[in-house]
Amino acid sequence: MGHNDTRDIDNADRHSGAAAGLRAALRRSESWFRAFFEDAPAGTLIASPDGLLLSVNQRMSAITGVAEAELVGRSLADLAHPDDNDAVAEMIAAVGESQQAPRAAEHRFLTADGGHRWVLLGLTGHAVGERGLDALLGLVIDIDERKRGEEELRDAYEKIAELTRRLERENQYLRLEADLEYHHDEIVGRGPLTTKLLRQVEQVAGTRSTVLLLGETGTGKEVVARAIHNVSSRSDRAMVKINCAALPPSLIEQELFGREKGAFTGADTRQAGRFEVADGSTLFLDEVGEMPIELQPKLLRVLQEQEFERIGGTTTLRVDVRVIGATNRDLAQLVREGRFREDLYYRLNVFPITVSPLRERREDIPLLVHAFVKEFAAEMDRRIDTIPARVMKALEGHSWPGNVRELRNVIERAVILSPGPLLEVDIPEMALGRDEEPTALDAAQRAHIIRILERTDWRVRGRGGAAELLEVKPTTLESKMLRLGISRPR
Ligand SMILES: Nc1ncnc2c1ncn2[C@@H]1O[C@H](COP(=O)(O)OP(=O)(O)OP(=O)(O)O)[C@@H](O)[C@H]1O
Ligand SMILES: [Mg+2]
Repeated sequence: MGHNDTRDIDNADRHSGAAAGLRAALRRSESWFRAFFEDAPAGTLIASPDGLLLSVNQRMSAITGVAEAELVGRSLADLAHPDDNDAVAEMIAAVGESQQAPRAAEHRFLTADGGHRWVLLGLTGHAVGERGLDALLGLVIDIDERKRGEEELRDAYEKIAELTRRLERENQYLRLEADLEYHHDEIVGRGPLTTKLLRQVEQVAGTRSTVLLLGETGTGKEVVARAIHNVSSRSDRAMVKINCAALPPSLIEQELFGREKGAFTGADTRQAGRFEVADGSTLFLDEVGEMPIELQPKLLRVLQEQEFERIGGTTTLRVDVRVIGATNRDLAQLVREGRFREDLYYRLNVFPITVSPLRERREDIPLLVHAFVKEFAAEMDRRIDTIPARVMKALEGHSWPGNVRELRNVIERAVILSPGPLLEVDIPEMALGRDEEPTALDAAQRAHIIRILERTDWRVRGRGGAAELLEVKPTTLESKMLRLGISRPR
């Protein structure tokens, strides 16, 4: 030890009171910073300039679920969710380039349980003199609850927006349909055939099976479709309908599946199809036998996979739609003629329900007459309280080739024409169909053919068959039966 050193010690002695004070202040300051580092209400970290963790506090392991000792040595960027890796790496690089300037951003940090937590990460550089960046100092604030709240809110808003859009589509559709809507959706009639029908409706309504309604024109297929929808769990939504026979084939695809903007010349807006509108509800495909053959594969795919694309679109839409088809055609015959795809026929025919012609359930006629009289009398503000027995007898005796629809029209006319409380129906006129000559002729042919068929026990071909008795070729008789809607009663 040299002379100078001795003097330094003397100095030190002289100043020993002040040095002790300094050391105490240093210790206190150190313990404050240590306490701050360890106990701050946030995660704290010190990392190398390229982002390797050198020291973390206990709260960092509370946020990530990883022990402090395991965090040290790992890269800060790797703590982040794969989607946020790059953003954290960029932050580290940015702090490095600017030497010190602090940055803060929201990221997702992985947690030990395989999930993630949202954090606000603040980073700043620590430089020592000319040596440049010495370390990174970081604060990690847990903002998970707030972010998840925001996410939930955003999801809720999206759901509301989607419901609003759907409601608009539905309202628009309902406005279009409002004029066509039937006001009564109850199946009137309690004869054995109608009771069986009601039982079938109840059996199938609760399922999501495709239903195929078969029956002559005017027998009430649409009434049955509505009854199935109304009994089903989808009844809080409107049943959506499309009539394949009422639309030109070129329009059916667009009406069913919708189209994208620009799908073809003149398509200047996007349009939702009935399958989209019916999502969560029931779609009634009326006259499904008229579905153009080139569209049938697309229909088959929705029935099987519940998915399709809009015309001109590439996004596959998934929908939950219950389909009810109806036809007065003999679909099996159309299949044989190559006009209806066999696979689609089998897919539609999962649960067929036959709605019988009115002449096979005459016992329903009185109830129907009463229901229609009541309906029209109320509508026209008439008072009709008596239906003479002879009138009812005549109505029950008619063969009703137009089925319930024809009966309903006849009653409507009768209510208009009846002056008093007595229902008057002009039976002979009705039977001949004064201004409906062809129908009356059809009706006469129909009755005659049925009489002959009953005599041959519904045998058309061969010796003693109906075709021979009627002196026509069997094929001619069969197509006539098809046209007049004659089928063997079950
Ligand atoms: N059981 C019934 N009870 C009450 N009304 C009925 C019944 N069946 C049919 N109707 C009425 O008869 C008319 C024809 O019924 P609907 O339109 O359902 O027949 P459809 O079988 O669909 O005929 P089409 O094959 O010609 O389309 C409607 O006004 C309907 O309300
Ligand atoms: Mg119909």
